[in-house]
Parts: sequence; C-alpha cells; structure tokens
Amino acid sequence: MTTEAAERHEKQLRDGRRIAFRPIASDDGPRLCDHVARSSAESRRLRFFKSTSRLDPNFADRLAEVDHRRRCAFVGQLDGDDAIRAVGRYEATGSGEAEIAFLIEDEFQGHGLGRELFELLAANAALNGITRFTAMVLPENRKMLTMFESMGRPISVRSDGTTLLVELELAAA
Ligand SMILES: CC(C)(COP(=O)(O)OP(=O)(O)OC[C@H]1O[C@@H](n2cnc3c(N)ncnc32)[C@H](O)[C@@H]1OP(=O)(O)O)[C@@H](O)C(=O)NCCC(=O)NCCS
Repeated sequence: MTTEAAERHEKQLRDGRRIAFRPIASDDGPRLCDHVARSSAESRRLRFFKSTSRLDPNFADRLAEVDHRRRCAFVGQLDGDDAIRAVGRYEATGSGEAEIAFLIEDEFQGHGLGRELFELLAANAALNGITRFTAMVLPENRKMLTMFESMGRPISVRSDGTTLLVELELAAA
C-alpha cells in the first residue's frame, strides 16, 4: 500500500468508532506531544524505555519529519478528531533494514491498530527496498512480542541481557 492509499485506510473499532490512518505530517509535532502525554506511564516506558512524562517538543518535531522512504510514519485518528491516537514508524538503519516502533494510546490498544500500522509500514518499506524490520523490545512487553510472532513472518529474537532485538523478514510474508 502506498502512502496515498493509506490516507484512505480505516479500521473500525469494536465499539463502532473508526480510526483513519494517514502519513505523518511535518506539523504533527504538537499532536505527537499530546499523544504521548495521554498515554499511560507504562506505555511510554515500553515505547521510550524510560518513564518520560512528556515528549520534548523539538524531538517531537524531528519525529514528524519523514521522507516516506527511509524514514516513515503513519498516524491514526478518530474520524472527525484532530488528535493522534496511534503512531507506527520505521527508520532505516542499514541497507535493506529499518527499525520500527509503535505507540498506541491505552484506550485504543487491542483493537488491531498495531497490526494495521505494521502492515502499512511493511507495504511502504517493500516499495523502498527494505526487506527486514528490527525492533528493540523490553522483555516484559508480551503484547509487542506476541504481535510480532503473529505477523506470519520469519522472526528471530536475541537478547543483550536487558533488551530483546527482534528481527522480522518482510519479503517472505
Ligand atoms: C504493543 C502495541 C504496539 C500493540 O498494538 P495494539 O494495537 O495494542 O495490538 P493489536 O490490537 O494490533 O494486536 C495485534 C496482536 O498483538 C497481540 N496482542 C494484542 N494485545 C495483546 C495482549 N493484551 N496480550 C497479548 N498479546 C496481545 C496479539 O497477537 C494481537 O493479534 P490478534 O488480535 O490477532 O490476537 C501497543 O499495545 C502499544 O503501543 N503498547 C505500548 C507501547 C509499546 O509497547 N510499543 C512498542 C515498542 S517497539
């Protein structure tokens, strides 16, 4: 799926509300700060590996700057609502490889948004010569690990003692 197609991509939540996905935009920095602030301390820790209470606005602006090729992010928003509720991103780290990360607001976790974002990122990555995703995951993050294991792709998991390095092959899906 291309970034253009993602603009029309939607996911219906179990309660009937709809989340629409779009590529991140360069003016999304403040919306990313609000998204992180609304997330629980535990979700923030699982995403950023520290108990940060707020996203530095300059860092948020940098996260919003993408080229949709080697650096790419999609966001999810409720229909008719400007707030960002879910973010998935990848950043190329080497030839054919990119690191991915997600943050879904707690209220919206478990509705399939992580899976949708993964597939959007994987489709965009494939168009840009990226064949493997990597992710740094805290060992206690069962949700993230279960999601990766359920994506139907070859996966390997290594530990450096404190963090798990997950590798997923995209081409074999
Ligand atoms: C981890 C995270 C990205 C998953 O996204 P999500 O939208 O909640 O997950 P989905 O609803 O798309 O579920 C995808 C799969 O994850 C697994 N999963 C989801 N919720 C789960 C739970 N509570 N327990 C175990 N596995 C779970 C399942 O395999 C699920 O597939 P299924 O629905 O077919 O059973 C999201 O919960 C999140 O942002 N967590 C906080 C931040 C974080 O951990 N970021 C990752 C750092 S890289």
